[in-house]
Amino acid sequence: MEIIKARVMGFCYGVKRAMKIATAAAEKNGSAVTLGPLIHNPQVVNRLEKEGVHSVKSLNDVKNKEIVIIRSHGVGPSCYNDIKCKNLTLEDATCPFVKRNQEIARVLSHEGHQMILIGEKNHPELKSVAAWVEGKHPIIIEDMSDVDAMPQLDEAHIVIQTTFSIALAEQLIAAICRKVKKAEVHRTICQATSERQKAAQELAGKVDVMIVIGGRNSANTGRLAEVCRAAGAVTHHIETAKELRAEWFHSQDKVGITAGASTPDWIIEEVFFIMEDMGKMLEMEEQNLDYKKG
Ligand code: F3S
Repeated sequence: MEIIKARVMGFCYGVKRAMKIATAAAEKNGSAVTLGPLIHNPQVVNRLEKEGVHSVKSLNDVKNKEIVIIRSHGVGPSCYNDIKCKNLTLEDATCPFVKRNQEIARVLSHEGHQMILIGEKNHPELKSVAAWVEGKHPIIIEDMSDVDAMPQLDEAHIVIQTTFSIALAEQLIAAICRKVKKAEVHRTICQATSERQKAAQELAGKVDVMIVIGGRNSANTGRLAEVCRAAGAVTHHIETAKELRAEWFHSQDKVGITAGASTPDWIIEEVFFIMEDMGKMLEMEEQNLDYKKG
């Protein structure tokens, strides 16, 4: 069985940067806290705990001298104010691409434009971008039913969650443009997301089975699994090597692997090695069967 890795996968620039900021802060201060898990990967969050990076639900859970890390998904302006009022030390790990979305939303809404945000309503990044919108409430579009429910508009600016599906975003944009006379589209899906989705799609078209590695709570990993299924591959989304099942690889010549932007190399490598072992075992079993038959 040949195991083929997607040409781009795993940790993105924004996640690497957030990890660096958080671990450096914990090393300097003994510990640091993040508002919500730093990244959407439970295994990495557990490791970070051991290195002194703790996740809390709100600023009320932060002790006086602790350093507060804002994670890559960002927060709204009121959170920055609260951190300042409480005199806490801040390290901002908001991904620069998320910051750019917040800035577009802030500046254009301040100028009086209607903002339309395409993304997952409950995703922390989308919530953080929405929180920077001034004046008119932003219209949030997650699927076609939201487009059906939105009013006809004279004008609007569209911003997309950095980790959203490229294909779905294009469908939604086309539908929104039919309801807005003058729509300006800001194509803000980040390069890391689009590269990973394209690489996963390419690979899924060449293999029968795809293994997608990453947190179940990771939006971008979930999107990769959707992309692979849409490309026709039988797709299994796993968090760690423990979830692999040898029967998935019976009689398979080629199997693909991809991983979300919040999946570390050590998990990807572990999955790869276990899959290699499973492949060898299956080959030996098949040879034994042939021998017995012969
Ligand atoms: Fe940033 Fe894109 Fe990663 S927005 S956190 S580089 S997936």
